[in-house]
Amino acid sequence: MKTAGPAALANPARWPRSLFARLALILFVGLAASQAASFWLTMTERNQATMNVMMGYIEREVASSVALLDRLPAAERPDWLPRLARRSYRFVLGPGIAGAAPDATLSARVAASIAEGIGTSYEVTANAVPGERERLQVHLRLSDGAPLTIDITPMPGIPLSRWLPLLLALQLAVLGACCWYAVRQATRPLHQLARAADTLGPDLKAERLPEDGPSEVARAARAFNAMQDRIASYVTERLQILAAISHDLQTPITRMRLRVDLMDEGPQHVKLQQDLREMETLVKEGVAYARTLHGAAEVPCRIDPDALLDSMLADYLDAGHDVSLQGKVGAALVARPQALRRVLGNLIDNALKFGGAAEIAVDAVPAGTLAISVLDRGPGIPAESLEAVFEPFVRIETSRNRNTGGTGLGLAIARQLTLAMDAGLSLHNRAGGGLEARLVLKR
Ligand SMILES: Nc1ncnc2c1ncn2[C@@H]1O[C@H](COP(=O)(O)OP(=O)(O)OP(=O)(O)O)[C@@H](O)[C@H]1O
Ligand SMILES: [Mg+2]
Repeated sequence: MKTAGPAALANPARWPRSLFARLALILFVGLAASQAASFWLTMTERNQATMNVMMGYIEREVASSVALLDRLPAAERPDWLPRLARRSYRFVLGPGIAGAAPDATLSARVAASIAEGIGTSYEVTANAVPGERERLQVHLRLSDGAPLTIDITPMPGIPLSRWLPLLLALQLAVLGACCWYAVRQATRPLHQLARAADTLGPDLKAERLPEDGPSEVARAARAFNAMQDRIASYVTERLQILAAISHDLQTPITRMRLRVDLMDEGPQHVKLQQDLREMETLVKEGVAYARTLHGAAEVPCRIDPDALLDSMLADYLDAGHDVSLQGKVGAALVARPQALRRVLGNLIDNALKFGGAAEIAVDAVPAGTLAISVLDRGPGIPAESLEAVFEPFVRIETSRNRNTGGTGLGLAIARQLTLAMDAGLSLHNRAGGGLEARLVLKR
């Protein structure tokens, strides 16, 4: 058996996607249909009642008029005809027009009720009159043998008042407005919840949901806020442990370095020194990573990005690195200068480490954004690892050699900082080899 459910599912294009539209549609269609049904019921009842009243009226009126005409002398009858005529019928002296028996329900009912009123005294025949409107004639003979015809144009009920469509439209509008308001009440908290969950970024400073409103909504908001607090406390705890371990390792490492320095020169000595240096960077980076995550957030301020890029370029050139800068921003920018410096520094360091040279390119399209790209001609990154390298401590196996040694935290820190700056950071392999790291800032 085919049911409506699977059919609707099979054709999802007809069914709106949003909860708002679905609820509004269901409520509105349901209410409008029941409104239409009750309107139809009222109208039917009303027509039936007026019809019954009208039939009784015709029955009595026609009977007394026929009795009057019967008693009048034949010569006076024509004068009375206009006075006896009513909105839906008139009297004609004569045999009238012949025709088939009345078939329309209304005509049949009128003919029957007239026959009932006067049929006991006269022999009555009724027939329909062919024409555009529903019309019938009832024929009888008065007691002096003169033919009399009652010409009837039945009126179907009382016409509707002119303001009724207006009232119906108004009702529909009120119904629509109520549906919209009710559905909005139900779906707005969902939007707020989704937005709050979206803004729950690395700095754990998501928008708190208001805990008032209907009880179900308030409960969901309380649960969400509590969850947010729990996540924040777990993360803080984890980071504190990381920071504490990293920090406490610094002292023994420094002690070890001092001891190694006092040792006799030799191949083992050099290797030990190298290992200790690596451990030191690891620990330093660990502390730095913990700090960036901990939201030691710097306050954004108005900066001159060109001056920042120029000074960074000068520092790298002074250190003897092959770095170049192309393009100019040409306008001030609201940003966190320390964070921006750190992100760009990490990207340039990578380009130098893996590509030997770095090229910084500034691009201001599309409007409203500012893209700063760091390009190199190194080996690039396999497409499947382009996202993975943003994870802390992830390094690509081939780069794990002494020359390019690192901790694998550079990109993780850069990603955390860009998220905190509400910016975007992505990696792309370049045509012709090499990597492009693109930082997209909002203006
Ligand atoms: N410009 C690049 N070209 C090729 N590979 C890259 C480039 N930048 C990053 N990578 C790859 O991504 C990995 C992660 O980079 P990330 O900067 O996080 O760590 P790292 O440079 O190895 O160490 P750290 O920056 O902590 O000293 C690198 O080990 C390297 O394999
Ligand atoms: Mg790096």
